[in-house]
Parts: sequence; structure tokens; C-alpha cells
Amino acid sequence: MAGTVEIINLVDNTVTTRGLIAEHGLAFLVRTGERTILFDTGAGGAVVQNMLSLGLDPREITAIALSHGHDDHTGGLKKICEITGPLPVYAHPDVFTAKYRLREGEKARYIGIPWSRAELETSGAIFHLSRQPVELAGGVILTGEIRRRQAFEAISKEFRLLAGGEYLQDSLWDDQSLIITTREGPLVLLGCAHSGLISTLEHILDLTGASRIFAVIGGTHLKDAGPERLEETIKSLPRFGLQYLVACHCTGFRASASLYQALGDKFIYNEAGRAFRFAC
Ligand SMILES: [Fe+2]
Ligand SMILES: [Fe+2]
Repeated sequence: MAGTVEIINLVDNTVTTRGLIAEHGLAFLVRTGERTILFDTGAGGAVVQNMLSLGLDPREITAIALSHGHDDHTGGLKKICEITGPLPVYAHPDVFTAKYRLREGEKARYIGIPWSRAELETSGAIFHLSRQPVELAGGVILTGEIRRRQAFEAISKEFRLLAGGEYLQDSLWDDQSLIITTREGPLVLLGCAHSGLISTLEHILDLTGASRIFAVIGGTHLKDAGPERLEETIKSLPRFGLQYLVACHCTGFRASASLYQALGDKFIYNEAGRAFRFAC
């Protein structure tokens, strides 16, 4: 693609712009000129309201990509499809597994997609499920399944799958990121980076053949990371040559503070309503 790509953060946990609402969730609008892709849909309440408040028409969306099946990324899916009419929805086949959060001393809570596949299809979703990378528009690639390379990026035991009456560990193989090819190199949009920030970036270098990554925008899921994981993450970052790390959603205060200390002005704390434009 040649021209400009625009990325608008539609939904995030944080907001300081009047007229927008915050919720625990994430959604980005990616406009390439060729296609307008909604990457994640927030938890449900904010995505349409924020689009309208920003003067955007949800009917401009021509495709949806899901970073994974958690409800804070898929909760707006039905409403969007009902507004747009039939729409391709790209995701990993495990996106529909029965996802739960199980905390010690608490009852398991369902945190998967709030509707069945059939209900969503009735609303207009046309699913394209793949474990492999998929090109959604020229230079815009959904990563496919991400190989986990770093032991320090273990997935929280709170994430479970209900299978055969048991709550088993959910390895979240459905976790994917979006790669946008810019003139400065690959830009990475993260959902929650459940595969691990460093594993995800390593996977993307392999996939693209690039030697560095221009920028990362999105949720890093470092909010519960202990000092050891934070230290290993920060130690691993320089080899990617990042110009910007724009973190939000599940990054958390402590990780944000540590990343800012390590990266200085290359670290930006993101929020709903922010827009980014890059030459591509
Ligand atoms: Fe998640
Ligand atoms: Fe999330």
C-alpha cells in the first residue's frame, strides 16, 4: 500500500476526552484507504458511542479482526455487525472456546465471547478462522498463532477453559496481533499480547523478515507482571529498535512507570480518542 494509514483508539480503559467513555476493553479503527478494519470491539458499551462522538460512522467498517476471544475485546461484535450488515470477521479457531477466569477463593467467571457463533452469524458476522497469518489489506497482516519463546512470559493460571466439566489452563492460542507495514517498518497493534510482548515481537520479526519494529501500540498485559518479568521484558526490548511503545488497556500503572523510566519519550501512555497517522 502507498499513502497513509490511520489508527484510532476507539475504546480503552482510560479516557480524558470530553464526550468519550472508558470501559475495560480495547478497540482500534485502522483505515488504510483500501479497507477500514476494526481491530477488537471493546466490551460492548463504548465502541459505537465513541465512534459517533468522534464523528465516525460505524458503517465505514469493512472488516473486523479479533485479537482473542475475551469479552473485553469481543463484547461489541454483535452490535457492530447489526449496524454494518454482513461483515467478514477474522480470528483464530480457538476464539470460541469456553473461556473463564478463576481466581483463588472465587467462583469461575465466564469471560469468553458473550454470544454463540450462530447468534453472531445471524447478526451478520461472516467468520474467517485461521491459525495461519492472513493478509487483511495490502500490508496489513493478522499474525496467526504466536509461538511462545520466552519462559518468563508464562500465561496467568487464572485463565481457564471449561472442557469436559473441568477448568483447564487456557493457553490462549487464539491470541493474535495485527502488523501494519509502514514506511518506517512494521507497526504492531496488540490486543492483550497474551502470548507475551517479547514472544509476539520475535514472532513478527520472523514473519516479516524485518530486522526491527517501528512501533507497538496496544495492551501489553503487564499489569500483573512481577519485578522479574518486567525486568526481563525491559532488558529484551532494545533488540527490536522500537521508535515508539504506545501502551494502554492491560498494561497497568507499575509496568507503565517502569517502561517510561526505561524508554523515556519513546513510551507514550495511550487512551481512547487518540489517533495516529503513518506514511506507508
Ligand atoms: Fe485478554
Ligand atoms: Fe484485554
